[in-house]
Amino acid sequence: MPITHRLTLTQYLIQERRRYPNSKGEFNALILDVALACKAIARTVAFGELGGVLGNHSADDGDKTINVQGEVQKKLDVMSNNYFIRLNEWGGHLAGMASEEEELPYQIPAQYPRGKYLLVFDPLDGSSNIDVNVSIGSIFSILRAPEDAIASGRDLVEADFFQVGAKQVAAGYALYGPTTMLILTLGNGVSGFTLDPTVGEFMQTHPNIKIPEDTNEFAINASNSRFWEYPIKRYVDECLAGKTGARGRDFNMRWIASMVAEAHRIMMRGGVFLYPRDNKDPNMAGRLRLLYEANPMGFLVEQAGGRASTGSEPILNVQPTGLHQRIGFVFGSKNEVECIERYHAEPAPKKDDINPLFAERSLFRD
Ligand code: F6P
Repeated sequence: MPITHRLTLTQYLIQERRRYPNSKGEFNALILDVALACKAIARTVAFGELGGVLGNHSADDGDKTINVQGEVQKKLDVMSNNYFIRLNEWGGHLAGMASEEEELPYQIPAQYPRGKYLLVFDPLDGSSNIDVNVSIGSIFSILRAPEDAIASGRDLVEADFFQVGAKQVAAGYALYGPTTMLILTLGNGVSGFTLDPTVGEFMQTHPNIKIPEDTNEFAINASNSRFWEYPIKRYVDECLAGKTGARGRDFNMRWIASMVAEAHRIMMRGGVFLYPRDNKDPNMAGRLRLLYEANPMGFLVEQAGGRASTGSEPILNVQPTGLHQRIGFVFGSKNEVECIERYHAEPAPKKDDINPLFAERSLFRD
C-alpha cells in the first residue's frame, strides 16, 4: 500500500514548525524522542508472553515491586518507564521529567545537556489490562521549565511541575491496541497517527479530530456507585432511566478500565467518561492522577472540541499541589460534560425530597 499520500509524524511536525519561524526544532526533536519511546513500548507489548514481559515485576529482577502509588508494578510498567527515561534524557531538550513510576522528579544525568522543557508521563496506563491482552497506552504532557531552572540548569524540585494544565505546550497518548496509534496536540487541534509497522513510522491517518458535542454513551465504574456524590448519582440514574426518565433518550454504557482506550473511543465517536471524586477513601480525592493522566487528556479533549472537568471546574484550571495528586475527572462530549457540571452547581436535594419511586429504582439505593 503506498504511504506517500500521507504525512509522516516528522513531516507533520516540520509543517507545524513552519508557522513559528524562530523555533529551533528542539521541540520537534523532543516529540520524536517521545514517539520513539512509544514505538519501543508498542513492540515490547506486542510480544506478550513470547517476550517474557507479562506478569508482575519481582525482586528477582533486581528492583522494587511497589510503585509510589502503592500499586504492584508490572514488568511492562518498569520496562516502559525505562524506555521513556532512556530515550528522552540524552537529547538536551529537557530540564527534567516526572513519571507515575518515580516518586520524585527525575534529574537529567550530569553527562547530558539540560533544556527548557519538562516531560511528565504515565509510561503504561491501564495496568490491570496488561496480562489480559486488552488495549493499554502511554500518556504524556510537555510543560516549559521555570525560567530560573533553564538559566541555571539546577536540579528540579516537585514544585517546578505544579503548573495548571492550561500551560501545557503539548500532550498526547499512544494506544497499544489492534493498531498502535499516537494522538497528539501541539495546542492547535488534535491529530492522529497510525504506526505503519512495515516502515516503523507514525503516519497521519486522523487529521483534525473532533469529538461530537452530543452522545448517548457514558463510561463509569458502577461498582463504586454507593460512594458517589449526589450529582453523579443523579446523572447516571437519569442515563439508566433512558427514554422513560428526565433525559428522554436511551444511553449505552461502556467500561474498559483502561483510560487511554476509553479516551480513544470518545475521540473517535464521542461519549463521556467519569471517574469522579467519591467518598470511598477519604485520603484520595479521586482515582486518576492530575499531572500525567487528567491534564494531558484534558488538553487533548479540549483541543478536539470536547470538555474536561473535575465536575465543578475545568480540569485545566486546577492548581496542582502534588506530583502524584489524584483528582475527580469527567471528560468527553461537550454537552454531556456541561450537564454534569450543571448538576454539580445545583444544590443537592434533602433526603426527604427525593422521590421514593425514583430512589427505589435507583442503582444507588442507600
Ligand atoms: O490508573 C488508571 C486506570 O488504570 C485507568 O486507565 C482506568 O480508567 C482506571 O484506572 C480503572 O480503574 P478501576 O480499576 O477502578 O475501574
